[in-house]
Amino acid sequence: MHSLTITRFLMFLLVSSIIASTCYGHGPKRYITPKDIVKRGSLTCIASPSETEGPYFVSGMPYRADITESKSGFPIHLYITILDLATCLPTKQNVTVEIWHCDYLGIYSHYEEASKNYANPKTDTNTYFRGKQFTNSSAVAYFKTIYPGWYTGRDNHIHVRIWQDSTLLLTSQFSFNDSMTDAVAKVSPYTSNTNQRTSLSTDSVFKDNGVLGMLTLKQISSSDISAGFYAYVEMGVSMNGTTASEGNSLSGNVNVMVLMALLASFLFW
Ligand SMILES: *[C@@H]1O[C@H](CO)[C@@H](O)[C@H](O)[C@H]1NC(C)=O
Ligand SMILES: *[C@@H]1O[C@H](CO)[C@@H](O)[C@H](O)[C@H]1NC(C)=O
Ligand SMILES: *[C@@H]1O[C@H](CO)[C@@H](O)[C@H](O)[C@H]1NC(C)=O
Ligand SMILES: *[C@@H]1O[C@H](CO)[C@@H](O)[C@H](O)[C@H]1NC(C)=O
Repeated sequence: MHSLTITRFLMFLLVSSIIASTCYGHGPKRYITPKDIVKRGSLTCIASPSETEGPYFVSGMPYRADITESKSGFPIHLYITILDLATCLPTKQNVTVEIWHCDYLGIYSHYEEASKNYANPKTDTNTYFRGKQFTNSSAVAYFKTIYPGWYTGRDNHIHVRIWQDSTLLLTSQFSFNDSMTDAVAKVSPYTSNTNQRTSLSTDSVFKDNGVLGMLTLKQISSSDISAGFYAYVEMGVSMNGTTASEGNSLSGNVNVMVLMALLASFLFW
């Protein structure tokens, strides 16, 4: 090796270790997934970030498109397209998309008391705003739901999990544009949610790459926000499960580290 190569190699090691320590220095809870993989065709193929599952996941929820159980809130028609990171095309696999979120007051079914006060771990048997769908042959999962409310410490969000049969491929979250939530919050029934709002810029999940889970929102009626929204999002998913649940998948973390190192070497070689 001549000296330039050695210098580059040392630089590569330095940058890789800085990136690795940045990702792991804050404990095992969160890590940043590499953003840009590749672009192909009209769809942007990006690895969706792995985000925390949070305390309110419930297993065994039903397959159904309408998860509202007739509860109040502005309707949302949610279209989730799953891209296979190996091809950057809509996945050919039949995967399960599972979502859960709170009601307009910031309350989660099954954890109503805990949602009001974290010191109350008591659970109930309610299932509203929870459900699963298979992707269809266009790799789309559709849900009818509502614009979620907010609760202290978190901006509005929808939790999502992607499964292949019983294998968890990814746990993540979708975010809502703050100016849209500002408008929603001014109208009943959201006016009765007195919890303190948290903006995206200070939300703990959004700031570590939640921008990739940002929903594209289209108002159904420009003159009546209560008519609701169409919401679209594309998720880049590794179909072999290498980006499984945040912070508890060793192979996921190692995979991210390898990609980070590759990115660093690409930038500095
Ligand atoms: C996905 O699998 C489910 C359950 O086996 C089946 O009902 C559904 O038709 C499948 N969808 C596609 C697009 O193959
Ligand atoms: C898949 O589902 C979406 C949303 O319901 C729908 O627009 C699309 O036509 C469906 N694709 C097929 C092939 O059925
Ligand atoms: C939210 O929407 C506003 C207005 O359309 C836009 O200026 C802003 O960039 C959006 N914020 C994010 C985080 O996408
Ligand atoms: C898993 O899939 C990713 C892309 O989706 C690919 O880069 C990786 O090589 C695959 N790993 C294995 C073990 O198949």
